[in-house]
Amino acid sequence: MTDLPAAGPNATRTASTNDAARWPSGVAIRLLRADEIELVQGLWRELLVHLDELGSAVPLVPHEQSWPRRRAAYEELLADGRSFALGAWRDEGLIGYAMVHVAEPDPVWATGATFVELSTLSVTRRERGAGVGTALLDEVERELTGRGIDQYVIGVDSVNEGAKRFYEGRGFRVGFHLLHGHISERPAAAGGGRAAGDTAGRAEVPQRDIAETPDTAMHGEP
Ligand SMILES: CC(C)(COP(=O)(O)OP(=O)(O)OC[C@H]1O[C@@H](n2cnc3c(N)ncnc32)[C@H](O)[C@@H]1OP(=O)(O)O)[C@@H](O)C(=O)NCCC(=O)NCCS
Repeated sequence: MTDLPAAGPNATRTASTNDAARWPSGVAIRLLRADEIELVQGLWRELLVHLDELGSAVPLVPHEQSWPRRRAAYEELLADGRSFALGAWRDEGLIGYAMVHVAEPDPVWATGATFVELSTLSVTRRERGAGVGTALLDEVERELTGRGIDQYVIGVDSVNEGAKRFYEGRGFRVGFHLLHGHISERPAAAGGGRAAGDTAGRAEVPQRDIAETPDTAMHGEP
């Protein structure tokens, strides 16, 4: 099959080190260093633009505010000693990246010795649909498998049908619905809403007042 130069994401992977039939032509993938994080700003912006164009169910933070927060979170991840980022390059230019958070085991979901989340996957618009996202995830999974990790989760905006197809095509299935709602917009807040005889004071929240799964966590095994 493949003839890898070295284990781990430090090695640059190209068509010559991978299954050439599946690998996007002219693309190389390697580990992103912490001092290269600023390079992903444009791709982060493109992801927000994509969600905005789709009409994200939850209002989005403007890019100028979003990026400093995202960058700080990435820096924290890359300093934790186990999370990692991979970049896809064409002609010295970054065209996509994946950020992977490797965390402590979850108290609820039995996913093994770690709880792993694909925090971000973004491919620049002109390169989408040509196998770059697939190559990035293949390399993420190669790295996880090398560490003995077999499962990870991904949060997908409920309106992002293309991304859902992409992950479902790899065998991911919905494992959790994250709901979002405005307390002040419930009819109950405008008067009533408490069921007669509900002495426990538990308000009835009509289903329609909760935005429908703005973010869906998918789960899969590499
Ligand atoms: C989702 C994304 C990372 C996939 O990467 P990609 O390089 O476009 O995907 P690939 O070419 O490897 O795979 C294509 C598959 O992804 C899906 N897909 C998702 N978005 C797509 C798009 N804009 N164009 C084409 N295919 C898309 C299709 O199901 C396609 O499957 P098919 O070839 O069987 O039709 C990329 O399209 C992207 O960055 N989109 C915008 C940001 C985003 O939604 N990120 C995911 C957040 S969870």
